[in-house]
Amino acid sequence: MHLYDIFRPVLGCVGPELSHNITLTALASGLGPRLKAAPDPSLAIQLWGRDFINPLGLAAGFDKNARVIGPVLDMGFGFTEIGTVTPKVQSGNPSPRIFRLKEDKAVINRLGFNNLGVDGAEANLMRWREKQNQGKNQGPNPGLVGINIGKNKDTTDGAADYGFCAGKLGGYADYLVINVSSPNTPGLRALQSAAALEEILGAVGDALDGAELAGGKGIPVLVKISPDLGDGDLADIITMACAGQMDGLVISNTTLDRPKSLQSVHRPQQGGLSGKPLFEPSTRLLGAVWRETEGKIPLIGVGGISSAEDAYAKIRAGASLISLYTGLVYQGPKLVEEILTGLVARLTRDGYGRIQDAVGAEHL
Ligand code: FNR
Repeated sequence: MHLYDIFRPVLGCVGPELSHNITLTALASGLGPRLKAAPDPSLAIQLWGRDFINPLGLAAGFDKNARVIGPVLDMGFGFTEIGTVTPKVQSGNPSPRIFRLKEDKAVINRLGFNNLGVDGAEANLMRWREKQNQGKNQGPNPGLVGINIGKNKDTTDGAADYGFCAGKLGGYADYLVINVSSPNTPGLRALQSAAALEEILGAVGDALDGAELAGGKGIPVLVKISPDLGDGDLADIITMACAGQMDGLVISNTTLDRPKSLQSVHRPQQGGLSGKPLFEPSTRLLGAVWRETEGKIPLIGVGGISSAEDAYAKIRAGASLISLYTGLVYQGPKLVEEILTGLVARLTRDGYGRIQDAVGAEHL
């Protein structure tokens, strides 16, 4: 039994945000679970010259300030994406701002990029890297860290904010994600237009200074997109990705859509919907982008993963890496092991020696 299973009834009784903060404190205090099983070699995948021990990551938003990188990797995740980090500290929208739609296995959040800013994240990232250099992060997981960056709500120059974050934090990142798809910062999703993205990518590229990968200095730069993206913007992003202006896409962020199937009383709450109801639209978009890019652009599949079957479906639809957040809220850390062992079983069943062989298999 996981410690989580003991605490779970308590976490279920307090509000979602308090429950999240208790979880973070418990993880930071070393009370998190450790996955004991050695990672199966068939799950290893190399991308952008980095070795991921497995393709399952923790999605952005859980560890906004890079507080619990080590404990998250100890849970068995192959990587973690911290953030969204904005240049300046920001308190976000008034509470309540996270809602559990229990009947729907979903969450609506309108946090609005509450975070400690670049300085807060950098202090924690520095501590993590120092530990890593001193060999204090034990275990088999080399620990790859994605850094998800955004802009402050009150900024007048969005592109400069992304450039600033990239310049300050790029050196700590195994990959960077330009988040232009959260629905809770007014105007943010408009930055998914070609003109705005060109400007942001330019600012980020300049800050990273170089051109080996789109992000320069060997740091891959990805763009995280919305499942609600219009066809025109999507076509432009695909064109830019195929032209090498970015090194990958994260598909997807939360949706403003409210499927008719939703049962919970929280359904009308404003904010981004995640979890089970997001699985189908985000996976459909993932598959469409894989087809349009002919599988040439690495994709991270996110949205509604709550089982090994879901994880495998994302990979077959075209995801080289996958990540989740809401599934963890409802199922706890045992979901990580369940997905990893379930993936190995499915690869064996379908005769794939490596996870890479299953990426995009649905389209072949
Ligand atoms: C998020 N997500 C998110 N994404 C992002 O790029 N930056 C962020 O700061 C956050 N914050 C955040 C907070 C909360 C409470 C949730 C539930 C989600 C979105 C997240 O990374 C992911 O894209 C979606 O939640 C879809 O995946 P799941 O949750 O369905 O597995």
